Amino acid sequence: MKLFIDTANVEEIRKVSALGILDGVTTNPTLLAKEGRNPNDVAREILALVPGPVSLEVTALDAEGMVSQGKELATLASNVVVKIPMGAEGLRATKRLSDADIAVNMTLVFSANQALLAAKAGARYVSPFVGRIDDVGQDGMQVVQEIADIFRNYDFKCEILAASIRHPQHVLQAARLGADIATVPYAVIEQMVKHPLTDIGLQRFMKDWESLKAAKVNI
Ligand code: E4P
Repeated sequence: MKLFIDTANVEEIRKVSALGILDGVTTNPTLLAKEGRNPNDVAREILALVPGPVSLEVTALDAEGMVSQGKELATLASNVVVKIPMGAEGLRATKRLSDADIAVNMTLVFSANQALLAAKAGARYVSPFVGRIDDVGQDGMQVVQEIADIFRNYDFKCEILAASIRHPQHVLQAARLGADIATVPYAVIEQMVKHPLTDIGLQRFMKDWESLKAAKVNI
């Protein structure tokens, strides 16, 4: 499974990239607003740092505006993926952008039927928001499972990008269900790295090593 980071924070991207595990980045208007800087500058910095797919979202609400913003974004670098919100306008824009060979990540997907439509319109990625689905008392991972079943039945090339990830269990479940990608916030990646037994185990190894040295054994 590919691992993307869900952030517009360049420092977080730099740190995770240094771990050698990063396949791509997803941003959205909320994440860019959090940075409080010119979004184009932030996007350029991210693109200079990450060779894999970087999702940048359009802010237009009509298909015409989405297509023109998407085409503009795609000129920034060859790894730009245009993020388009689900809906009738979004589907129209997705069809036109994908016909022009521009990769689309269809975002704000909350049902398997929406994902089916996104794949049919030519989206390269579909982003079910599992955390937000859980928030309204439904099962986000059930939606991922349904999408995986449908895409397998018809051999759709569209990749499942599990989004709105809230905790390490979400990543684990997405991987077990065969999601192609999980886009994960920095704090959750940090949680995935750690395990209390790893820390305790390392402490014990170091303590025992020190006692061996203290016994003046030739190391
Ligand atoms: C996906 O690409 C979105 O940026 C993101 O996962 C939204 O997650 P949230 O529900 O934590 O805002």
